[in-house]
Amino acid sequence: MKQFILLFVSLVLMSGLSAQDLNSPDNNFQLTVSLNDQGIPFYSLRYKEQDILKAGRLGLKLSKEPSLDKGFEMVSNNKNSKKENWTPVWGEEKSIQNQYNELEWKLRRSGDQPIEMIIRFRLFNDGLGFRYEFPRQHSLAYFDVMDELTQFALAGDHKVWWIPGDYDTNEYSYTNTRISTINASEKTNAQEIFARSPIGNDVVQTPLMMKSDNGIYINIHEAGLVDYSAMQLRAEKDRLILNAMLVPDPLNVKAHLQTPCNTPWRTIIVSDDARRILMSRMILNLNEPCKFKSTSWIKPQKFIGIWWDMHVGKSTWNYSDTTNLKLKDAKWSSLKANGKHGATTARTKKLIDFASRNGFDGVLVEGWNIGWEDWFGMMKEDVFDFVTPYPDFNVKELSKYARDHNVRIIMHHETSASATNYERRMDTAFRFMKENGYNSVKTGYVGRIIPRGEHHDGQWMVNHYVRVVDKAKDYEIMVDSHEPVRPTGVHRTYPNWLACEAARGNEFNAWSEGSPPEHETILPFTRIMGGPMDYTPGIFKIKLDTYRPGSTNKMHTTLCKQLALYVTMYSPLQMAADLIENYESKMDAFQFIKDVAVDWDNTWVLEAEPGDFITTARKAKGKNEFFIGAITDENPREAVATLDFIPSGKKYEATIYADAPDAHWDHNPEKYVITKQLVSKGDVLRVKLAPGGGAAISIKEPAPAVRKK
Ligand code: NOJ
Ligand code: CA
Repeated sequence: MKQFILLFVSLVLMSGLSAQDLNSPDNNFQLTVSLNDQGIPFYSLRYKEQDILKAGRLGLKLSKEPSLDKGFEMVSNNKNSKKENWTPVWGEEKSIQNQYNELEWKLRRSGDQPIEMIIRFRLFNDGLGFRYEFPRQHSLAYFDVMDELTQFALAGDHKVWWIPGDYDTNEYSYTNTRISTINASEKTNAQEIFARSPIGNDVVQTPLMMKSDNGIYINIHEAGLVDYSAMQLRAEKDRLILNAMLVPDPLNVKAHLQTPCNTPWRTIIVSDDARRILMSRMILNLNEPCKFKSTSWIKPQKFIGIWWDMHVGKSTWNYSDTTNLKLKDAKWSSLKANGKHGATTARTKKLIDFASRNGFDGVLVEGWNIGWEDWFGMMKEDVFDFVTPYPDFNVKELSKYARDHNVRIIMHHETSASATNYERRMDTAFRFMKENGYNSVKTGYVGRIIPRGEHHDGQWMVNHYVRVVDKAKDYEIMVDSHEPVRPTGVHRTYPNWLACEAARGNEFNAWSEGSPPEHETILPFTRIMGGPMDYTPGIFKIKLDTYRPGSTNKMHTTLCKQLALYVTMYSPLQMAADLIENYESKMDAFQFIKDVAVDWDNTWVLEAEPGDFITTARKAKGKNEFFIGAITDENPREAVATLDFIPSGKKYEATIYADAPDAHWDHNPEKYVITKQLVSKGDVLRVKLAPGGGAAISIKEPAPAVRKK
């Protein structure tokens, strides 16, 4: 017995020697890392005395031995701490706190060719980030990652909001199940998404949002995805382990690397309060600071566009209906017009007038350039040249018209996923923009990627998106990318990357069965954790059979919910996506879109539950103006906003845009009531939200009373 106790004590001591602990600054989190007897690294995470992640494996499988999967011994473990504030170029607040404790765990694989790897852990008050680092060293210069072995070993069979794993698209709607009942292939037959590359039954994408039975919210994603492929997660459903799965290239390599280098950060954000998940800035904190010397040319903005017209079938991107055209040889100027082309000089002028009258910064024009006759589906390399307009779109005349009206036209570069063509022409295209007064571009990657065999979320494309924003910076151009890899906070480093799509946007409602009313209550907990989304809110004409008589396509929203989205879905780039005619007939409700800010001093998430509801308040940057958005899923609810964030000692005027009492997303979506009341700090506003509904509130200093003569 005595011998047994001695053995037990020495075993505990030994494991104690190889195990390292780290606490978060507030001591709520505890990280433990250790090597097992085969030299395989493991880590586990606790929050408020509860297991969040049990021991999960770490490491990478390389194409050659020695690999980075086992046989490690510890070289050193250094601890560090940091506490600083930094100022984003734009954002949800004007100053962000970055506070963490760090463990630099240096491991060595000995042998004929010893190799070293550092696993760097940063523990914040809102969660954990860690990454692998590969220092410059004799026996590791160039190497190929075949697999990342990172595991997230969950402590329970949590509820999870997932979209299926896919190398090429993230435009699926969400499903809510337990981890053990994920069945991704149920969702992968989404015909409305053109380029799908589903991975398998058990694979899901990040940001992945989970909730434990005892009310702990857990979000897994990544930060700083550059020069590596995106991480998806394969669920081992019986063991409740999520395994990292990287997107392959045509050689089935996941990342081609050269030391010194590192992987992106793996992030686990945790809280017992769902609101704190939305308030986490950990992903931004893990990204590199802004790379640019000057940023004064980067401006958050609101815009309208020639866009919804095409999505609802009122007009076309293409000028003619002739097909099988070659970019170089076609007689573009003498094509037979189909009479439905949207991007005409006259229509653009109308939009410029409207933008100028209503204080909008930009007008997006899609379909202005030659190539849309054969633009997707055939993996054509040279689809667009990005500089030649159709005969009915006069670039010079419109540039002048926009300048005279103090509005910018937003350029559109649909690449049809031919990234090679875009890279060859990008410099010329940006120069053309500069010459004609454009300072923002919306890019797009619909279809299968060229270089053929690459994927939207693979290393080659991850680097392409960054090359585009970096090149755009040379021309002081801001970028909004559609169909890119989902964001991971890289916009901190490249702040001209204002927004991207990378999820199922509002446009799906125009031409598919659409997204359910809960969709927008999930997105902030999933996709938007990585960065702003160009969701294109603001649809006022909600019954879509107006455009396609007999069609069953419909929006799953009330009009007021569309207003609320400008606040609940953070983006420094917000479109008022509907046709201007639909705004002209409801200018009282449109006033909210005119007023709402796109850049903020502060944000307060007042109420939140993934899949159910969100109420968010924000203070406009540099102004004493506050905006609140409240949304719900298919269930009606009462949103409650306690105004303890407005300054004391003064009355403010609140304008409340609420669903009418009988409003309903399905049978009465467009009915609203606008009321005004004076409010002061500490007042509580209660607003009823219809099924699928929402409310928007602006709070401003009252306009000075006009004295009667
Ligand atoms: C898909 C984008 O998401 C959409 O906004 C755009 O209108 C079309 N591609 C055409 O480029
Ligand atoms: Ca899209």
